[in-house]
Amino acid sequence: MELGINIDHVATLRQVRRATYPDPVEAALIAERAGADNITLHLREDRRHIQDDDVRRLSRCVQTRMNLEIAVTDEMLEFACAIQPADCCLVPERREELTTEGGLDVLAQIPRLTSAVSRLRDAGIRVALFVDPDLHQIEACARTGASVVELHTGTYCEAGHLQGERGATSGSQAQELARLQAAARLANSLGLEVHAGHGLTLENVSAVAAIPEITELNIGHSIIARAVFVGLPQAVNEMKQAMLAARR
Ligand code: PXP
Repeated sequence: MELGINIDHVATLRQVRRATYPDPVEAALIAERAGADNITLHLREDRRHIQDDDVRRLSRCVQTRMNLEIAVTDEMLEFACAIQPADCCLVPERREELTTEGGLDVLAQIPRLTSAVSRLRDAGIRVALFVDPDLHQIEACARTGASVVELHTGTYCEAGHLQGERGATSGSQAQELARLQAAARLANSLGLEVHAGHGLTLENVSAVAAIPEITELNIGHSIIARAVFVGLPQAVNEMKQAMLAARR
């Protein structure tokens, strides 16, 4: 089970002041030394956090693997093919959203995604599609030629928050976990590698990390937030230990 650290939130802090610090590339190198297995970053069309130059600089010094998240646009596909990260994760993008809300509707755009996947694969890049844990979407992913699905864990995490606020056990988080388990099983049976991420924290990661078909979790916000208090190496290490403990 591998841990990808999303460094977007370090860039967000920098961009708030349009400053030169904190540097997300420096954060990536610290995270790698603390046990990160890949570095994830999302070059958004509005460049609200990660900038083109961050991606270029990281590509020159990454020690593990770069997982570049992009929207399915010509500009982004061209940029990714030029950078040639080890992995690319295709995500939906809306300018007004705070973060990636929901997965790609793969079913509705199989020809477009098939062509994007083959363009990236021809450049030597492994491609993941970020989708909700919906069985129809998983089947559609397999038809595009993608090698990986990344399951959106946001609804599972949100269900946990709501449950916590009401102090009741509504069962909705258990239902969401069951959806993730079923989606992971189906994806695996179709020959897809299964990753997951979005909204994961030290409190909710264990049940997801315990799903045997999932081989990688990509986590950003909670780790960077925790790093403010305990430092980045400890925040990365705590998450990795929690994941590995759940796996055992
Ligand atoms: N995976 C994908 C595809 C994402 O878009 C994000 C958010 O940028 C994450 C994982 C990490 O989510 P979070 O920052 O909530 O941990």
